[in-house]
Parts: sequence; C-alpha cells; structure tokens
Amino acid sequence: MLKGKLLPQNEEYYLIIEVAMNGLLRDEVIKYIRDLMPPRDELLVNMELEAAQKMVPIVEPEVAQMLYWLALSHNVTRVLEVGTAIGYSTLWLAKAVLPRGGSITTIEINKPRYESAKSNFKRAGVEDDINLIFGDARELIYEMTGPYDFIFLDAAKGKYLDFLEQCINILTPGGLLVADDVFMRGMVISGEVDKKRNKTAVKRLRDYLKAVTGHPQLETVIIPFSDGLALSYKK
Ligand SMILES: C[S@@+](CC[C@H](N)C(=O)[O-])C[C@H]1O[C@@H](n2cnc3c(N)ncnc32)[C@H](O)[C@@H]1O
Repeated sequence: MLKGKLLPQNEEYYLIIEVAMNGLLRDEVIKYIRDLMPPRDELLVNMELEAAQKMVPIVEPEVAQMLYWLALSHNVTRVLEVGTAIGYSTLWLAKAVLPRGGSITTIEINKPRYESAKSNFKRAGVEDDINLIFGDARELIYEMTGPYDFIFLDAAKGKYLDFLEQCINILTPGGLLVADDVFMRGMVISGEVDKKRNKTAVKRLRDYLKAVTGHPQLETVIIPFSDGLALSYKK
C-alpha cells in the first residue's frame, strides 16, 4: 500500500512516498539497499558524478544492478539499448554480457552525450565491443534486425507503444524487454500532469502498460522500483 505524505523541504512541499513497511520512507529503503551493494568500479562512480554535474538522467545504481542481474541470470548475449546517455547502464550491462562474448548496440540522439559515452567506453576498454550509434531511435529502431535477447527502452517514452511490435519482432522467444520510467515521475499513476504537454506522454505510457500486460506474446511484471519498470518476457 502506498501512502502520500507532505513534508516541507526548501520552503516547498514535495510528495514523499511512504511504503507500508512500518512507515519507512522510500528513501530509507533505497539507501539500505544501496549500502548493501558491492562497491562499484571507480569509472561507474565517476560516471554517476558526471551525470549529476551535467544533469544527465541515468538509472539509479540499484536499477543498474537489477539490469546487470537480469542479463547475468538470463544468459543474455545480444542487447539493444535505446537511450545511451553517457553509457552508464550500457557499462553495467556490458559487465554481464561481454565476458560471454556477447554484444551491445546502443542508440543516443544527443551528440555531447554520445561523445561522453564514447570516451567512457574507451576508458572501460570496451569501445570495440559496443556498437554505439548516434541517431534517432524513432527511425533507427525499425532498421534493427537483431535478434536480441534483451532490449532496454530508456528514451522517447511517448514512443514505447509505437516501438512495441518492432521490439517483439526482434526479440528472441525467452528474451526480455525492459522499459524504464514507466510511471513518469508518478504522473502515470496519479493522472496529474505537471505540464500540459506531458498529458499525451502519460496517456501513451498508460497505453503501453495496458498493451504489455495484456499482450498474448508477453508475460509482464511492473516493478515499483525507482520510477517504475515494466519487465516483459517474450513467450
Ligand atoms: C534516461 S537517458 C538514458 C540513460 C541511460 N540509459 C543510463 O541509465 O545510463 C535517455 C537518453 O535518451 C536520449 N534520447 C531521447 N530521445 C531519443 C531518441 N529518439 N533516440 C535516441 N536517443 C534518444 C536522450 O538524449 C538521453 O540521453
């Protein structure tokens, strides 16, 4: 059960979500989980700082760890990622996939972020193993033939539904389709949008969630972790 509580912060009020574990704040739960994580490589920690400084949205460490765990436990070898940013989630996935001789294709539309990702892959010594593509996934995704056994959607949220049939086509049976930020900062659940232009994106994400949970070729679970993740398994 989720319960909203208003707390004063910087003279404004923010909605703090409480979880039903003796009223523990969600932040406390996340901190507890994060403290249990094995120490991260220096490069990953530096990338977290780089992302914070440049205000680049990247997955939280525990979400990255979950992606890594999913790829590792499902013997994933062929990954497609939509939305590289500076390559943080890509490098977590690479840790699971590259030692098995796998490959990762990742798409980024923003040139400075694409360049940052390129240097981060170089620093990690994996630049030859990751197919980093500069361009618009809204067009490029239809050129991808795969097959992939793991697709991570982390960009163009309003397009997730449009991408769905293509993702299913290029995903192998037994493969995973993971969509990030499906709650869109909670707006998908509350229906209350901060800006008028987010109304369409919220509707499209709701339609995406209905589509993946009811799709005959998929088994989907929605995880209320971070900003919501939809994990779909192709039957
Ligand atoms: C949430 S960030 C990705 C974060 C990254 N997956 C991580 O966790 O480290 C989303 C990225 O997708 C990129 N993006 C947005 N629309 C895109 C599109 N149509 N095609 C490719 N990339 C896009 C943005 O520039 C941004 O860097």
